[in-house]
This record gives sequence, structure tokens and C-alpha cells, in this order.
Amino acid sequence: MRIHLVELFSIGLVLFSCTKEKVTPIDPACTSIISFSNDILPIIEANCVSCHDQGNASGGYNLSTYSKISANASAILGSMKGDGYQLMPQGGPALPDSIIMKFSCWIQQGKLDN
Ligand code: HEC
Repeated sequence: MRIHLVELFSIGLVLFSCTKEKVTPIDPACTSIISFSNDILPIIEANCVSCHDQGNASGGYNLSTYSKISANASAILGSMKGDGYQLMPQGGPALPDSIIMKFSCWIQQGKLDN
């Protein structure tokens, strides 16, 4: 009986560690590596920095550099989707899904500074 308990415990431990190691799979739509300088920065510069740079950090968000964009990535994605944050760009239509997807893929790929 004692052995059975030990076995059960080990199986439980293995199952537990498998569950713990599960990572969120990267969206299959993320087929290519997103470039910060060629993809992400131009999106933010064209749509956001007019209201979100150092001199005019609306809502407290300066989004003009890699480190600021990287540090605020989930708020940026949330605001692009209007999910948990006010929809941005403020007053304008939402960005196209293809752009939002690019930003989401960039996050899932580890927010590369490439
Ligand atoms: C026309 C100006 C303008 C543009 C363009 C704009 N924003 Fe904003 N944004 C604001 C203002 C103003 C606020 C603060 C609103 C408030 O506090 O009520 C804000 C707030 C935010 C917030 C905080 C929202 C919240 O609910 O806490 C985020 C995140 C944000 N903007 C991201 C972005 C992103 C990303 C873009 C580009 C896709 C963008 N903004 C474009 C004016 C703008």
C-alpha cells in the first residue's frame, strides 16, 4: 500500500509539472518574425505619437521609444482592441485587424528590438 501511494504521488507530480510547463502557443497567424524598426515603430509613429510622446504623454503614456513601447505593450494592445482600455487612436476608427495582429505577434515573439 505504501508503494502505491508513492507511485500515485509521483504520477501526480509528473502531471503537475507537465501542466506547469505548458506555454501559450504562438498564434498560427504569426508566420513571420515581426521587426520592431520596420513594422512596429512605423505603426506607432503614424497612429499614436502625435498624442503620446515625451512632450505630450496623453494619459501618462509616452510611446516614442522601444523601451516605452515594450514596457507598455499590453496596454497598447488593449487600447488597439478597446479591450480593458479606451479604444485608440482616440477619436479615430480602430486600426485594421492586420495591424493589431502584427502588434500581437510582436509581443508573442518576445518584443524583439530588431
Ligand atoms: C488624438 C490623440 C490620440 C491619439 C492619436 C492616440 N491617443 Fe492614446 N490617449 C489619448 C488621450 C487624450 C488619452 C488619455 C485619455 C484619458 O485619460 O481619458 C489616451 C490614453 C491612452 C491609453 C490609456 C487608456 C486607458 O484606458 O487607460 C493608452 C494605452 C493609449 N492611449 C494608447 C494609444 C495608442 C496605442 C495609440 C495609437 C494606436 C494612441 N493611444 C493614439 C490621445 C490619443
